[in-house]
Amino acid sequence: MKRKGQRITMLTAYDATFARMFDDAEIDVLLVGDSLGMVVQGQDSTLPVTVDEVIYHCRAVARGCDHPLIVGDMPFMSYQVDARDALINAGRFLSEGGAHAVKLEGGKSVAPTIERIVHAGIPVMGHIGLTPQSVHAMGGFKVQGKNDEQAARILEDALYVQEAGAFAIVLEGIPAPLAAQITERLDIPTIGIGAGVGCDGQVLVCYDLLGLTPNLRPKFVKRYAEMYDDGVKAARRYADEVRAGVFPAQEHSFGLKKKTLDRASGDGVEERGSNANVVPLRPVYGPAE
Ligand code: KIV
Repeated sequence: MKRKGQRITMLTAYDATFARMFDDAEIDVLLVGDSLGMVVQGQDSTLPVTVDEVIYHCRAVARGCDHPLIVGDMPFMSYQVDARDALINAGRFLSEGGAHAVKLEGGKSVAPTIERIVHAGIPVMGHIGLTPQSVHAMGGFKVQGKNDEQAARILEDALYVQEAGAFAIVLEGIPAPLAAQITERLDIPTIGIGAGVGCDGQVLVCYDLLGLTPNLRPKFVKRYAEMYDDGVKAARRYADEVRAGVFPAQEHSFGLKKKTLDRASGDGVEERGSNANVVPLRPVYGPAE
């Protein structure tokens, strides 16, 4: 797609329903991101997320879609300790999670690990710039690469990741001109998030895109729906109708012939003989007598 000048679309997904929705929308790549720690689990960062948890969500996403490339995000400490550990964990995303590739954060320092995983036949997507698993080392979720030294290091990281065999690389939270320059220098596609329009593709956390994160409005996010507000409105209408006895209406209810109801409530039982030990039947959801 990079060679043809076609931009790549990527979104995060964490379950089968969203995966189906994004498959129908013809999204190219679904990332089962460790961002699930924040948007699904309600954590303050991605750090507490485990391999088992991402794999669980990968399986759900894999069941929900047929076309997109599925990338499983390797969580904090699942690849940093040593390359052997990283390889075993990466393999689980494919064999247990149904993912087609894995993503891991870091540049020069993780290049040998990327190489090891790629050599085992597992496609790897890199991720450099603002790397959320290093939030404490970066002093917060801050744009990276704003000074000469940082910008040069990020470009170097990109080259190392490509050289190690990654098939694509996420550029997160870096100035747009730097991302554009990296995109020009690399043969592999760059996927930007908060990195401007000069990348080969874009990724967003789907909860941000859909307006499901009401208290978060980062500059780089564009909301394409307001599903949180719509959800609150829908739940309020439901509650009002339940309280008013309007829902469920007749069209949401199952009927029963009067004869059957009469029999169930006792008449039929007597016809069959002694009812000494027989508990009369009642409609399961019917009102208490
Ligand atoms: O976990 C995630 O959602 C990500 C994207 C923001 C790229 O890594």
